[in-house]
Amino acid sequence: MNTKTTVISEAELSKQFVFCDKISAYWHDKNTTPVAYVETYGCQQNEADSEKLRGYLIQSGYTIGSEAEGADVVIMNTCAIREHAEQRVFGNLGALTHTKRRHQGQKIFLCGCMAGETKVSDRIKKSYPHVDGVFSTHHLWQFPEILWNVLSRGKRQFYIEDEPGSIAEGIPQARDNALKSWVSIMYGCNNFCTYCIVPYVRGRERSRKKEDILAECRCLIEAGSKEITLLGQNVNSYGKDLYNDFDFADLLAAIAEIPGQFLIRFMTSHPRDASKKLFDTMAASPKIAKQLHLPFQSGSTRVLKAMNRHYDREKYLELVRYAKQVMPELVLTSDVIVGFPGETEEEFEETISLIESVHYDSLFTFIFSSRPGTPAAEMEDPTPKEEKNRRFDRLCAVQNAISEEIHANYIGKTLRCLIDGVDKDLLTARTEGGRLVRLEGDESLIGTFADVTITGATTWSLTGQLK
Ligand code: SAH
Ligand code: SF4
Ligand code: F3S
Repeated sequence: MNTKTTVISEAELSKQFVFCDKISAYWHDKNTTPVAYVETYGCQQNEADSEKLRGYLIQSGYTIGSEAEGADVVIMNTCAIREHAEQRVFGNLGALTHTKRRHQGQKIFLCGCMAGETKVSDRIKKSYPHVDGVFSTHHLWQFPEILWNVLSRGKRQFYIEDEPGSIAEGIPQARDNALKSWVSIMYGCNNFCTYCIVPYVRGRERSRKKEDILAECRCLIEAGSKEITLLGQNVNSYGKDLYNDFDFADLLAAIAEIPGQFLIRFMTSHPRDASKKLFDTMAASPKIAKQLHLPFQSGSTRVLKAMNRHYDREKYLELVRYAKQVMPELVLTSDVIVGFPGETEEEFEETISLIESVHYDSLFTFIFSSRPGTPAAEMEDPTPKEEKNRRFDRLCAVQNAISEEIHANYIGKTLRCLIDGVDKDLLTARTEGGRLVRLEGDESLIGTFADVTITGATTWSLTGQLK
């Protein structure tokens, strides 16, 4: 199989802009300003991809609406990580038959991770005739061409060939938030954790060139962005496909050199490739948030091996010990899966004990969901659903108590926060560690860093006042 990354040339990308112009002219001739709606499911990578789709749509003359009703183009940017996520998409996709009936000429597209699954595209071909186009993440850069083909030929378009993946620089990006920016530094994943579908739908790991990333960050900061979040499925392996002497820690340090007041965050860190150098680099720069999302998935070395995670309980705990030693104020979060096939009660208890010993600020907790085509889907899974639910509830209760305790300890402390919005008459802010704070204050403060004294806490958020 071909495993080589396709780098999309400038000439090829400029053809897409010609399609944008054609679409613009098409609507201009009809004397109409078309409306597009993009619905995003899943993780920040999809959020970033949706910003690119909206960028293309604006370039093609569309305005961006907030609902499918009445929109000329509806795009569902989907997530395949768990079965439940897929069921939701199919439900919502079905409902679009009605919006299409009410708005003649509505064009409906499905893209994102589900579009990378043959069984999904087959089902859409057969049972969802109102869907005009399906394209996988590898073909996102060709969206103007796909849309133009649908508009001009009136034929359904399927851009779903399995590919190792591409990198396209220069797609316009309509960013949702002027203060906080997503920057994808790499795409795809090579890890093949046995439960996970991502490597199958997003292709092989490929890094953007450091010059392109730095130029994008510089541009965002000059335009007023205060928070840059670097995105990748496994940011710690950044650059392995491009450089011998430049890794993720070097990239962080280089971004931190850009003049201006801003914070750098990143996700996700895979413990397999997390290094002491990374933690030392984080500790050394005031511009790198002391926040780490380091998924552990299970506290049992046997289960970790079955998951193909390439680290054991001891290595994980050692990493955390070092990170906390060099960054005592570190805010640590993680992902965990309960009920992996064959997980025993004792192995589950090892997960609980790891949570208790690490003391995470918060956790993203998941019950194992079998993804057809992954190795874990073939494993014996004798544990009944009720038992998995019981384990899940117990784990959540343990973590909630810890989160509550950690949050209560914030009371009385003064923390530098980025004031980022307003919600129900209160300003919202984020601590450097990414915790949500609500406080009273004038909206003119949005976009500034301020010292906030924490006055109250719940499991999920903090309240504070300006110092
Ligand atoms: N690349 C990241 C994770 C991306 S997916 C990493 O490896 O850390 C986000 C989370 O979804 C994973 O960390 C995992 O906890 C969860 N997840 C992935 N596949 C799953 C599955 N089949 N069932 C349940 N949870 C899953
Ligand atoms: Fe999935 Fe593992 Fe890759 Fe994360 S590292 S995206 S869990 S295969
Ligand atoms: Fe979902 Fe794809 Fe992200 S499967 S979690 S949207 S990489």
